[in-house]
Amino acid sequence: MLENNMPKHVAVIMDGNGRWAKKKNLPRVMGHNAGMQAMKRIVIASSQMGIKYLTVYAFSTENWKRSSEEVGGIFNLLVKYVNSELKELNDNNVKVNSIGDYEMVPKSAKDKLEALIDSTKENDGLIFNIAINYGGRAEIVRGVNKLIAEGKVEITENDIANNLYTGNEIGNIPDPDLLIRTSGEQRISNFLLWQCAYSEFVFTDVLWPDMDKSEFIRLIDIYKNRNRRYGGRS
Ligand code: IPE
Ligand code: IPE
Ligand code: MG
Repeated sequence: MLENNMPKHVAVIMDGNGRWAKKKNLPRVMGHNAGMQAMKRIVIASSQMGIKYLTVYAFSTENWKRSSEEVGGIFNLLVKYVNSELKELNDNNVKVNSIGDYEMVPKSAKDKLEALIDSTKENDGLIFNIAINYGGRAEIVRGVNKLIAEGKVEITENDIANNLYTGNEIGNIPDPDLLIRTSGEQRISNFLLWQCAYSEFVFTDVLWPDMDKSEFIRLIDIYKNRNRRYGGRS
């Protein structure tokens, strides 16, 4: 049951995997592995808490700047998690979607993810969006180009919103109520630029691999005490 003030849509910038690994003298990819486990914990927690939409930033259009070893490692982990543990999502009635540009994603990762999306498409619990090769600016440009291709000469805010990855294609996901970023960084890094126009931002110093349900609940509680005004008066 959805209690009062619960955010309907939570977006998360899962940051700090590399620093977590460094602190433990482990290779960066081990940080990404621990980050996948944290992602799974937070998906299950969100589902139990009655959150309707969870959108996580897994790989940005800028993350290609990293070494091919790290990028390859991240995609291998994605395949591994989709194959094994994420299957549990089905048992939890979670519906998986993906946002971002798929063309550059390695085929193995793409195929596995598409299979997962297909196998969970009838589920009607938590809607879990994974942003992969996602960039907010690229998303807006793509949407505008789609409108140009349709021959539109004048466009509205609704036209743009409908043509984002979060628009018609995956059933119009409402804008995030809450945006969380871990690891102490306080920036948006090209995530959901259009959709976060009126989102509440909550930051934590916790590194993403250390994220657990109690910290997640603490962050949600901070959100619940915010006073959202949307430019009006309280
Ligand atoms: C977030 O952790 C995961 C991705 C960006 C893929 P980072 O890898 O950015 O971790 P830090 O910021 O270097 O600690
Ligand atoms: C944002 O984290 C992207 C993801 C979490 C996937 P980054 O670590 O890439 O962002 P910057 O470079 O610190 O802005
Ligand atoms: Mg980072």
